[in-house]
Amino acid sequence: MSAEKVLVVEDERAQRDALTQYLGRAGYAVTAVATGEAALERLAAEKWAVLLTDLRLPGADGLAVVRQARERDDELGVLLMTAYASVESAIEALRIGAHDYLLKPLILEEVARKVRRLVEHRALVGENARLRRALQQPADGHDLVAVSPAMSAVADWVRRAAATRATVLLTGETGTGKEVVARAIHQKGPDADQPFLAVNLAALPETMVESELFGHERGAFTGAERRREGLLRAAGAGTVFLDEVAELPSSAQAKLLRALESHEVQPLGSDATATFEARVVAATNRDLALESQAGRFREDLYYRLNVLRIRLPPLRERPEDIPGLVTSLLARHGSRPGARIPAVSPEALRALCRHPWRGNVRELSNVLERATILADDGRIDLDQLPDDVRESAAPRLSLPEAVDRFERSHIALVLRLCDGNRERAAEELGISAATLYRRLERLGLKGRDRNGTV
Ligand SMILES: Nc1ncnc2c1ncn2[C@@H]1O[C@H](COP(=O)(O)OP(=O)(O)OP(=O)(O)O)[C@@H](O)[C@H]1O
Ligand SMILES: [Mg+2]
Repeated sequence: MSAEKVLVVEDERAQRDALTQYLGRAGYAVTAVATGEAALERLAAEKWAVLLTDLRLPGADGLAVVRQARERDDELGVLLMTAYASVESAIEALRIGAHDYLLKPLILEEVARKVRRLVEHRALVGENARLRRALQQPADGHDLVAVSPAMSAVADWVRRAAATRATVLLTGETGTGKEVVARAIHQKGPDADQPFLAVNLAALPETMVESELFGHERGAFTGAERRREGLLRAAGAGTVFLDEVAELPSSAQAKLLRALESHEVQPLGSDATATFEARVVAATNRDLALESQAGRFREDLYYRLNVLRIRLPPLRERPEDIPGLVTSLLARHGSRPGARIPAVSPEALRALCRHPWRGNVRELSNVLERATILADDGRIDLDQLPDDVRESAAPRLSLPEAVDRFERSHIALVLRLCDGNRERAAEELGISAATLYRRLERLGLKGRDRNGTV
């Protein structure tokens, strides 16, 4: 196979040379140019696998290059380089089609890793598009946003898991994306045209769990008027998604273990067994190891499910994913009839990136849906965000800054209570008058009015 072609656009000479050399050694055919115009010329002249461009460029800027490049070739992988200070433009770039961005100063290994991922991704996109055309069916579900290293690792595991039929266990807090990942594993696999059947075991009455999973014969129990195949068989060679698997009643746990080991089920009310092919993906937000130690979950079933485990990190551990998620979720909400996709102000985005998101991606999604409705002028600003999220935009203070701030307001309060009498205030504060004077000076409270009001 000939080397994949990478176009590097970077105005700084040393940086450009370093990238050319490093990526060249990594096996790519690298061409480097220094201006936006030169980049546009090269993009028009030939086909490239990956475009790696600086955001600030002389002539046409990085955003214009990205936009034109993506318009011309929708399979091109686009990677943007930017200084931390201009992360908002990086987000704009993601919106218009860049796949990922790198923060400067660059770490060359990371550059090579991201380039490689885009090359692989491009091969996959091409393949998926061909498969989809062949199947004549639209891609449903949503793409997995995975920008952070932690989520890139998840995406790698998804790809690996998709290639096998091993049982997969997905763990992670509520709203972290376990179901999206389960669907992605199904969709990226060779049997994506087969059914994906999901069941929420927490929502199902205990008496129905077994018949739902393993099926029943007609008349197997009161009310069983018709025979039921059960999800494991109904899914064919597809996937059965067992959500909230920790809630599985203990008799069903034993039966599920047997089913997974033998690939056979025994429908309720039947003497015969029937084979099934489906692959099982299970999810839980509990710690199954703990549950099994506590005797609430069969240990042998836990080991059987745990063949391949993928842990979804909480959103607060991966704020790098937030800009991409915002873009993807807004596009989703905006695609509903009557809605249009709003722009997000830099302040609002900063708040979204800083918020701790206890409800993870689901909470982010709900906040954006509400903000979309409130954004009459097509723009989401701080005003359209809930109070607790908006407060996250406040700059974080260092400990000395926070201490100063507290000290200042406490001293001001005591001074006010003492009618501005500094001797009395010092006594009340438990420090000497001299110390109080020094503090007032340091905190910039000196020279205020007699009442010590700040
Ligand atoms: N990486 C991601 N990329 C795009 N969308 C995501 C991602 N992660 C989560 N979402 C979206 O966030 C919402 C919640 O995800 P999901 O339902 O998969 O969470 P979950 O882990 O199954 O939560 P629970 O434990 O509460 O069932 C969904 O709308 C999903 O599409
Ligand atoms: Mg779920």
